[in-house]
Amino acid sequence: MIRTVFRGVGGFVPDNIVTNQDLTELMDTSDEWIIARTGIKQRHWINEEMGSSDLAVEAVGAAVENAGIELLDIDCIVFATLSPDHTFPGSGCFLQEKIGLAGIPALDVRNQCSGFIYGLSVADAWIRTGQYKCVLLVGAEVHSTGINITTEGRDVACIFGDGAGAVILTPSQDSQRGVLSTHLHADGKYARSLWIEAPGSRFLPLRISKDMIDQGRHFPKMKGRHVFTHAVKRMPEVILQGLEANGLGVDDVDLFIPHQANQLITEAVAQILGFDTKRVYSNIARYGNTTAASIPLCLRDAQEDGRLKTGDLVVLASFGAGFTWASAVVRW
Ligand code: UT7
Repeated sequence: MIRTVFRGVGGFVPDNIVTNQDLTELMDTSDEWIIARTGIKQRHWINEEMGSSDLAVEAVGAAVENAGIELLDIDCIVFATLSPDHTFPGSGCFLQEKIGLAGIPALDVRNQCSGFIYGLSVADAWIRTGQYKCVLLVGAEVHSTGINITTEGRDVACIFGDGAGAVILTPSQDSQRGVLSTHLHADGKYARSLWIEAPGSRFLPLRISKDMIDQGRHFPKMKGRHVFTHAVKRMPEVILQGLEANGLGVDDVDLFIPHQANQLITEAVAQILGFDTKRVYSNIARYGNTTAASIPLCLRDAQEDGRLKTGDLVVLASFGAGFTWASAVVRW
């Protein structure tokens, strides 16, 4: 039986660090409020022109080196982002040109915080059917140029950071290792609870107008409490669904890597499932919420910290806009 294994991981964040204290210069907020409500101490924001594909280039270089492969071994790109370089084509195409892999397919995945696990599910299916043998899966975001960095937008602005993570996925004949399952969900009833409304193809005569910009409809809007409540319900559900599908339980898990949305969400999910803090990975204090990049950035950091050992049972889980939620059970 063929399984998909993580052959290499890499990550990149821009040099420019923005602390909570820095945000107090831009909006009415405080270091104490942000730490208490989110666990975030700082985030990285670009300070020169860079798109999500540019951040991805750096993460890909690190992942390729970590995997011990040649760039030319990659035969498919899956790029998860909610902040593409341009409206179209997808960032996967821009990345492909930058890393010099003309001809191979480049798929963009638009599932926000769940984008990495949705992308993993697609890549895993392609690898198990033999369609592709070396998939580059990227999660990359540039949030900082899209958020309202005034008091009006402070709930959203304080959580988001820029960054990229990349993994190299390859087949293994060892049926005990690799991606054991992925479970994906969505509920479009809540699409407007966390979204950017404009520009939008449905608006006449143009996708965006000066009035819309004046009304701030091009900024992300989030019903924070509402998202929080659903996240702490859906993430435990989808984790248990993944574990049960494999005949495993919470006690079997060596490391739980949640999407880094808010430290309070991570702690609530861990408490509901009974994960002690030693088995829960968190780096949100340093990067904030980097959406599709958060799980691969965790994988990169966890590997560097020596917390990912061959044979470990790792559970990835996410919840975010859509709403979408997902889990992956992986034998590292
Ligand atoms: O990754 C994608 C999925 N996203 C998430 O999972 C995010 C889930 N939600 C959250 O993380 C939290 O809801 C937030 C961090 C966004 C907000 O925290 P909260 O504890 O839910 O605050 P709240 O929205 O209920 O607002 C409480 C108060 C409000 O003031 P009033 O109306 O009580 O006067 C807000 O205006 O806190 C105010 N507030 C802030 N104050 C200082 C909101 N943001 C800030 C801020 N600094 N940055």
